[in-house]
Amino acid sequence: MSIIDDAKPAMMVDSPVSSVFPADFLWGTATASYQIEGAASEDGRGLSIWDQFAAIPGKVHHGENGDVAADHYHRMPEDVALMAELGLNAYRFSIAWPRILPQGKGTVNGRGLDFYDRLVDILLARGITPLVTLYHWDLPLALHEKGGWLNRETAFAFADYAEVVARLLGDRVDRWVTLNEPWCSAYLGYGTGEHAPGSRKQQSAYIAAHHLLLAHGLALPRLRAHTYLQAQLGITLNLTPVYAANDHPETLRAVELADKMSNRWFLDPIFRGNYPEGLFADAGVASPPIQDGDLDIIATPIDLLGVNNYSRSLIRARVEENGGGDTQTWGFEHVAADSSYTEMGWEVYPQALTDVLVRVHRDYAPCAMAVTENGAAFADQWDGRDHISDPLRVHYIREHLQALGRARAQGVPVQGYFVWSLLDNFEWAQGYSKRFGIVYVDYPTQRRIIKDSGHWYAAFIAAQRRQQGL
Ligand code: FCB
Repeated sequence: MSIIDDAKPAMMVDSPVSSVFPADFLWGTATASYQIEGAASEDGRGLSIWDQFAAIPGKVHHGENGDVAADHYHRMPEDVALMAELGLNAYRFSIAWPRILPQGKGTVNGRGLDFYDRLVDILLARGITPLVTLYHWDLPLALHEKGGWLNRETAFAFADYAEVVARLLGDRVDRWVTLNEPWCSAYLGYGTGEHAPGSRKQQSAYIAAHHLLLAHGLALPRLRAHTYLQAQLGITLNLTPVYAANDHPETLRAVELADKMSNRWFLDPIFRGNYPEGLFADAGVASPPIQDGDLDIIATPIDLLGVNNYSRSLIRARVEENGGGDTQTWGFEHVAADSSYTEMGWEVYPQALTDVLVRVHRDYAPCAMAVTENGAAFADQWDGRDHISDPLRVHYIREHLQALGRARAQGVPVQGYFVWSLLDNFEWAQGYSKRFGIVYVDYPTQRRIIKDSGHWYAAFIAAQRRQQGL
């Protein structure tokens, strides 16, 4: 994704989305267990690393946690009814490992399984295709106490857990994602400590990443054994295309480096069976403990790559004073564009979605892809009754659907698009301060109100269906 860019702001065009998507295209929203479910100590759920992390003062905005969240565990049928009202035909959700195996392994908690069993049935009864994510960051605390993702055994425990879930849902679920954004689990969880479990060692991030990738590869045959032939198995990666802020040769080299350390760190082992050359040396770490055969397991073919994309990276080479007035160039630094930004501080740059999909198709050729997350946090305007105005989110989604259409027009096999998120929810270290939903949640009452963006998305999907004569 070494693209030279003149850093012009994204065009603020409010044109309609012109592309027509195929009739079987999946139009959905995405959520994650810890971010919406609440019911943290009900029906035998074990603790996760996020319960522990959120309880440490200073880790999460205002000391908030997922104990109640959007109370989806109790309101699940109502939330599925909302999806049906919006005309969605797909839903990506994650399963809480600590609900299924409260200790991470060993005894299976039937009450935890029941919840997802009912969810899948209710979705199917409403004509909504489920896409299951097995791990969206809520590692059972009991496994963390044995080393978490630094312990190779966790990868094997994950494969066992995947089998437990596939045995239950494999007769009804045809789309499976093993891990959500392992880059975040590894880098933010073990490298910078912004996320649970909060370790701050570069070396640990690379060990955790290797074990996460191994977990993914080990789970695939276990899922395959308990799903139908047509089932699509894969992984979701957060991919952010990197653009050069200027055309200096050092900056172009820095773009390669940044791309390697964000995107290729995971894409290369999954699709090519190798870590990118120089990855560990560039990061200043030792190679993680790679055992014979690991890379073959990690490169087990997948059917579906989930791409989460929100923005781009605009970077230049970092130039440092070397003492005595000399300078040296090392690494890269992010540059602010003259553009608009979301509440997360992420630049609105829809072309990034086209570019990332086209590039992944060109360089790695996955059989199929889905945009498993795309969306934006903006401050919503609630009139106190039943209207939520969020024009910036409408604009964001519309422009990204245009961008998706451009990727499809270039032959990229994208079969679904999932807005992050259905509901406002617990945004990790940012707590409840950032709202991503197309449905507003009034947390004190847990009332749901469809935002303008939700109405817009529903109308867009309905228009697609009309154009297809459905
Ligand atoms: C992604 C996460 C998701 C959500 C969005 C905003 O990185 O997968 O849980 O927090 O960002």
